[in-house]
Amino acid sequence: MRSLSILLRAISRLHLQAPPRRIIELGAGDGTLLLRLLRALRTSWPGGDVILLDQHDLVSEATRTDLARLGWTVQALRADAIEWARSARGERFDLCLTTLFLHHFRPPDLTELLAAVAARADAFVACEPRRNAFSRLASQLLILLGANEITRHDAATSVDAGFAARELSALWPQGADAWRIEEYFAYPFTHCLAARRLIVPHQ
Ligand SMILES: C[S@@+](CC[C@H](N)C(=O)[O-])C[C@H]1O[C@@H](n2cnc3c(N)ncnc32)[C@H](O)[C@@H]1O
Repeated sequence: MRSLSILLRAISRLHLQAPPRRIIELGAGDGTLLLRLLRALRTSWPGGDVILLDQHDLVSEATRTDLARLGWTVQALRADAIEWARSARGERFDLCLTTLFLHHFRPPDLTELLAAVAARADAFVACEPRRNAFSRLASQLLILLGANEITRHDAATSVDAGFAARELSALWPQGADAWRIEEYFAYPFTHCLAARRLIVPHQ
């Protein structure tokens, strides 16, 4: 899936002015993708706080230890993302990440989630399934790799729930703040959104 390289490329497209010190990942799973990302960026990002939000508690001690070794204080937050979006938290993040997560939602929940991200974070990257015929075909060809019917069905469902064109940008809140937004296809199966606030209020 090239998840790490696609994520790194999306982050580079943000042209961040400074290394992020406070990062939240929504739907973080076991946190190992974020660990690989922060390992890859360790020479340019010195560390700070990472919040790994997920409805399940999946972050192992080993992952926490490895993140701490890279200079990151870890908070694994077990929470429902929609409840997080609806909560009146006054928190701020330099960067919010999601991978294979937004496609679990549809408007109005998805719209509410993006509005909360835009209100609380200065930059956002989402890497999601790309909804197109090629991805659909590939999900069926998984049989050639020995995938069982359930796995193929899950893959096809994810593709159908994925995104295309500028569907995520269209849901991004049209507030007073200006954002630089790029939404694009990342070969072979990924749909990315990279958004950065142009004027950061608290700097
Ligand atoms: C496909 S996994 C992706 C995990 C990780 N981002 C990655 O790419 O390796 C989706 C994750 O989203 C989480 N998730 C789904 N719906 C959620 C919700 N409403 N609130 C919080 N987490 C949720 C799941 O528990 C799961 O860990």
